[in-house]
Amino acid sequence: MEKIALVTGCSSGIGFETALELSRADYFTYATMRNTSKAGKIQEIAEKENLNLEVIELDVDKEDSIKSAVKKIQEQKGRIDVLVNNAGYGLFGCIEDVSINEFKAQFETNFFGVIRLIQEIAPTMRKQGSGIIVNVSSVAGRIGFPGTPAYISSKFALEGLSECMRYELSPFGIKTIIIEPGVIKTNFFSAMKVSERKQDSPYKEITEKVMNGVKMMAEMGTPPDEVAKTILKAIQTEKPLPRYIVGSDASMFLEAKKMKTDIEFENYIKKELFGD
Ligand SMILES: NC(=O)c1ccc[n+]([C@@H]2O[C@H](COP(=O)([O-])OP(=O)(O)OC[C@H]3O[C@@H](n4cnc5c(N)ncnc54)[C@H](OP(=O)(O)O)[C@@H]3O)[C@@H](O)[C@H]2O)c1
Repeated sequence: MEKIALVTGCSSGIGFETALELSRADYFTYATMRNTSKAGKIQEIAEKENLNLEVIELDVDKEDSIKSAVKKIQEQKGRIDVLVNNAGYGLFGCIEDVSINEFKAQFETNFFGVIRLIQEIAPTMRKQGSGIIVNVSSVAGRIGFPGTPAYISSKFALEGLSECMRYELSPFGIKTIIIEPGVIKTNFFSAMKVSERKQDSPYKEITEKVMNGVKMMAEMGTPPDEVAKTILKAIQTEKPLPRYIVGSDASMFLEAKKMKTDIEFENYIKKELFGD
């Protein structure tokens, strides 16, 4: 039977590569994006390689947009086997500099967007008695550091949600997989927003240090197709693990977190970030 996949945030980066990877592996893939004027490149590749890939509009912030995308897939295919919750963005700014509205907007996309998709698609997967939901979290979903608390807390929330989902959805045949990339070379860092209150902030120096640090790290980041390959491998595994880490940087940080006490780990992060 033809397998159907829906990937969010496919205009660039991890979503772009994942949609191509899945369609190359014979999943009929709906490469969704909020702005379909960015569809040219993926459509060109799909046409050239004769892939089963269709671009449809989907903004994870908007319930109507999700409903109409899912309705279209239901009408065309009648099933959804794989959902990859990938769409997301980051926000620079320390706790006092990020307004509540900026925090809410960050959660709207990175957390509530995921819930909207799951609530729309899980009923179909339950009826099928099968399905796989992949949540693209981050190493920042397990490790806190300064400069991006809104982003980090949205990913911590996604990790918690994913752990709950594994218990709740598995009796219905639905698997949940968390992907934890380290620094990946995509548009992510250039697309990151900056909190409006950063000017004249007592946190200006630390925020700028973090901004410059991560932008430099991004240049040496892992290519996004490695994340796509990990996602494909995970969904093709009979009994997938709860978490898949991508990138040697992510493995190093998460291994350190496992081995050290909280205080030892905090000192290690301070040293890594600031040389303290
Ligand atoms: N790059 C990294 O180092 C890294 C590390 C760990 C985790 N991640 C996670 O990986 C995911 C993908 O990021 P990326 O690195 O591939 O960055 P990217 O190249 O900037 O891609 C982000 C994608 O999300 C889309 N998006 C943003 N808001 C959306 C919304 N409201 N509705 C639908 N789509 C939306 C963007 O669309 P537009 O083009 O329209 O903006 C874009 O397609 C994110 O969840 C990110 O948190 C990234």
